[in-house]
Amino acid sequence: MIKEELRELIPEFSLIEDLKLREKTLKVWEIALKAGGWEVKDLKIMPFTLLIEPCPCSMVEHIRGVTRVSIEARKALKSIYKDKLKINRDYLISGALLHDIGKLVEYKKENGKFMQSKCGTLLRHPISGVGLCYSQGIPEEIMHIIASHSWEGDRSKRTPEAVIVHHADFINFEQFK
Ligand SMILES: [Fe+2]
Repeated sequence: MIKEELRELIPEFSLIEDLKLREKTLKVWEIALKAGGWEVKDLKIMPFTLLIEPCPCSMVEHIRGVTRVSIEARKALKSIYKDKLKINRDYLISGALLHDIGKLVEYKKENGKFMQSKCGTLLRHPISGVGLCYSQGIPEEIMHIIASHSWEGDRSKRTPEAVIVHHADFINFEQFK
C-alpha cells in the first residue's frame, strides 16, 4: 500500500529496470517513512531543504527533479561518448531516488513546522541515508552515491554515477537559492 502510494507520487521508481532493485529502493523509502514517523502525503509538503526559508519546493519535487536531471545527463553523455563511458542506469536512478532519504530522519515536525531532529544534528542525511540502506541490501555502488552526493563526498573519489547525482542535486538546489 505504501509502495503503491510512493509509486504514484514519484513515478520515476518505475524507471529502475531491475525489479529486485526497484523493490529494494521502494522498501528503503518505506522504512525511512516509518523511522521518521511520516505518512506518504507528508512528502508533498515536506521542504526539500531547511536552508531556504520559506522553501519553495517539496521533497517530492526535488527527488523527481534530481532523478530526471540525472537520467537526462546520462543520456546526453552516452549519445556523444557511447561505450567510452560506463554509467549504470539502474544504480544512477536508484541513487538519485535515495540520495536524500536520510532527510526523513533528519527532520521532525513540531507545532506544524519542519525542523532538524536530534538524529539530524548528530548524523547528516548522507550518513543516516546509508544506514537506512544497509539493512535492505542496497548495492554498495548506490550507498556510495548517497554517501558522497553532498560535501561529505568532496574528498572521496566519486564514481561516474555519483558525479552525476552530486551535480544534479546542486543544479536543482541552486535554482531556488
Ligand atoms: Fe538533494
